[in-house]
Amino acid sequence: MKEHKLGIIMNGVTGRMGTNQHLIRSICAIRDQGGVQISPNERITVDPILTGRNEDKLKALAENNGVSRWTTNLDEALADSENQIFFDASSTLHRARFVEMAAKAGKAVYCEKPTAVTTEEALRLAQICEDFGIKNGVVQDKLWLPGIRKLKKLIKDGFFGEILSVRGEFGYWVFTGVDEGQPAQRPSWNYRKEDGGGIMIDMLCHWRYLVDNVFGSIKSISCRGATHVAERIDEQGNPYKCTADDSCYATMELENGIICQFNSSWTVRVRRDDLFVMQVDGNKGSAVVGLRECRTQSIGETPRPVWNPDVVQSIDFHEGWKTVEEGEEYDNAFKVEWELFLRHVALNEPFPYDLRSGAKGVELAELGLNSWKAKKWIDL
Ligand SMILES: NC(=O)c1ccc[n+]([C@@H]2O[C@H](COP(=O)([O-])OP(=O)(O)OC[C@H]3O[C@@H](n4cnc5c(N)ncnc54)[C@H](O)[C@@H]3O)[C@@H](O)[C@H]2O)c1
Repeated sequence: MKEHKLGIIMNGVTGRMGTNQHLIRSICAIRDQGGVQISPNERITVDPILTGRNEDKLKALAENNGVSRWTTNLDEALADSENQIFFDASSTLHRARFVEMAAKAGKAVYCEKPTAVTTEEALRLAQICEDFGIKNGVVQDKLWLPGIRKLKKLIKDGFFGEILSVRGEFGYWVFTGVDEGQPAQRPSWNYRKEDGGGIMIDMLCHWRYLVDNVFGSIKSISCRGATHVAERIDEQGNPYKCTADDSCYATMELENGIICQFNSSWTVRVRRDDLFVMQVDGNKGSAVVGLRECRTQSIGETPRPVWNPDVVQSIDFHEGWKTVEEGEEYDNAFKVEWELFLRHVALNEPFPYDLRSGAKGVELAELGLNSWKAKKWIDL
């Protein structure tokens, strides 16, 4: 059995994303399944080491997940040649410093999005990785959601005919901490611009790689943001002023003529199929895609309604949609991308989701913010 054993420095994983998606559901899951099996006699195995600032938190997280290595000394972890990969899930504004350190130490770098809050900084980080000749990647998890994978197959099979437009609705009510019995729900830095927060920088990064990879290149964007909730309660129970946008109303025009509209919000309540729902309309058929589900209506199945508010609607518009069958087993989206990155590092397989492509997400967010400020369409 040929084994590629990869030591992985996991930095900032005591946080929400780091713990749940990256440590537990990706790296520990890969470890527990015996690694990534390449062929009957070749596999990649993982050996994580947790790094961060707080000894107690690291120790507890490591123990709870059967991880033997952790340290508050990142330099030491970087100096160890057994650790080939550096992963970062710390909050956004810390990313640059860590990525630079890891690149200089010659580690392959994988990190959460956004890589930075300005395009200039995101491109600088990509350039540093390229200059040091290290493999690098950014989390673009939505590409491997079951719903999106089903959608991509429909597109490949020509189900839609010509795609005309796409409407995405993302969001849910994120508790502010103000209402009794309803503790604040997301880390407070998300709502402070000065700490790298804001829904535009958060979500437009996702919409960039999603749209680029599934529908086509974005030509221009028009965007309106808002801070609907002015004050929230922080981790210490103190009120703080929200300085970042909590909602984003974006319209994008693609090179191929498709119009995409995406609403992103932390201040809406859900009466739709899922936390993220996207409707794709084409001249031959439409689909409504959620995180897992995908439902279709072909031209032949499309009802012919008549506008008459004076009588009760005779058509149930939720009927007449077909649920796309589960074609395969869908692993956790973060884990799928991790496995691709591990293969990239161990076997040199291609991995297009690098820091340069991550910078495109930051670019869309920055242009969205500029469009809001200037109240105009901006070309990419
Ligand atoms: N891919 C996605 O869908 C997705 C979703 C949410 C968040 N994110 C991104 O993941 C990152 C983390 O978000 P989160 O929601 O987990 O935040 P979080 O606040 O829960 O976690 C942040 C982590 O960074 C650590 N940290 C902060 N400052 C540090 C420092 N100076 N040195 C070392 N560690 C430090 C914290 O201790 C914590 O472990 C953000 O960049 C965010 O944009 C991605």
